Amino acid sequence: MKKDCDLIIKNIGQLLTLTGYTPKKGGEMSNLAIVENGAVASKNGRIVAIGKEDSVISEINLLDNAEEINADNKVVTPGLIDCHTHLVFSGSREEEFYLRIKGEDYLKVLKKGGGILSTVDAVRKASSEDLFNNGEKILNDMISFGTTTVEIKSGYGLSTEDEVKILKVIKRLNEEHPIDVVPTFLGAHAFPKEYKNKEEDYVNLIIEEMLPEVKEKNLAEFCDVFCGRGVFNLKQSEKILDAAKDLGFKLKIHADQLAYDGGAELAAKMNAISASHLEYISDEGIENMKQKGIIAELLPGSVFFMGKNNYAPARRMINNDVPIALATNYNPGTCAIKSLPIIMTLANIYMRMSAEEVITATTINAACALNLQNDVGSIEVGKKSDVVIWDINNYKQIPYFLGLNLVEKVIKDGTIVFQKNERGF
Ligand code: NIG
Repeated sequence: MKKDCDLIIKNIGQLLTLTGYTPKKGGEMSNLAIVENGAVASKNGRIVAIGKEDSVISEINLLDNAEEINADNKVVTPGLIDCHTHLVFSGSREEEFYLRIKGEDYLKVLKKGGGILSTVDAVRKASSEDLFNNGEKILNDMISFGTTTVEIKSGYGLSTEDEVKILKVIKRLNEEHPIDVVPTFLGAHAFPKEYKNKEEDYVNLIIEEMLPEVKEKNLAEFCDVFCGRGVFNLKQSEKILDAAKDLGFKLKIHADQLAYDGGAELAAKMNAISASHLEYISDEGIENMKQKGIIAELLPGSVFFMGKNNYAPARRMINNDVPIALATNYNPGTCAIKSLPIIMTLANIYMRMSAEEVITATTINAACALNLQNDVGSIEVGKKSDVVIWDINNYKQIPYFLGLNLVEKVIKDGTIVFQKNERGF
């Protein structure tokens, strides 16, 4: 029997389906499962047929008023997935960026009450409406670069009330914006000023008050911790992650970002879904992550934006079968880049990842980092109809044309949500 469909994209030059094993590691990261002369059909926001155009057309029944898109022999990929951001905040930190260019150190700024803590001050003063409006603008920019799913962390409230305020804004963004938003609780992002010299009390506040309240209100899927010197040490991080696990949160961890701290090993010990940053990961950390199948969320935008050159050892990880995802890490301090294609270029140039690997890392592997691999990240029957049509005819141009927005159309849940205007913007 033919399958009804209300949307068909035809005449696709290169259809990058990204089907196959998940998460993709080692050589599998280079297999984009490309169909040439392809088509994708969907109904009610879910994909019902993919493959060569002739075969898709023979399988479907086009409903009245169905949308037909001619891709004009161009490239089509799954919607991009940004699996690590901190995009709900208030204010901006260009003054800190300015000082860093002059040589100021990131952690020294934080110690003096700037950095993350200056954003905490701004967020505590901001209304939920302002936070929502700011977040909505950022998501609008992201969708124009092809992003259809985003993870957002709290972590700029650092009190129960303000963390809950941020998480409620994240929930509202998910409800009102076309992009799917995955919420992560990051109360352990920094020690707030009022807990100076009482750090253990803040750890206890997270465990005894914040985590139970966030769980009770069902405001987060994941719990993350900024593990490292100057922030949460290994013992404190483990204590928080343990409590979060007991409550049923899935775990993430910021690990080995500014120095080697054993965070990757901790991620393995705790069976976290992912560990992020990993610029200073050890060989043992790589081995432990491989053994447990933990996804490395690499964030080259932050290394670039901080003016450093200590990029995470992506090639060593790929050679050792650690699955890699890439994300923007969009936040006001260490990365003001909203575009995943720019992140792909940085990963190409500075981490020597291939075009195929960076596309895998921003689609199916990023979906795995959010536990969404059954729903998004590849173009397969049954998955969401989240698709990007690119104004190019070779996918290798995505990371090549740095800074140019090559996205022609973004389809989310089977509906066009972004379209380049006739002047190409
Ligand atoms: O991932 N590492 C922790 N958090 C962010 C920085 C947040 C900020 O500076 O506001 C990061 O780089």
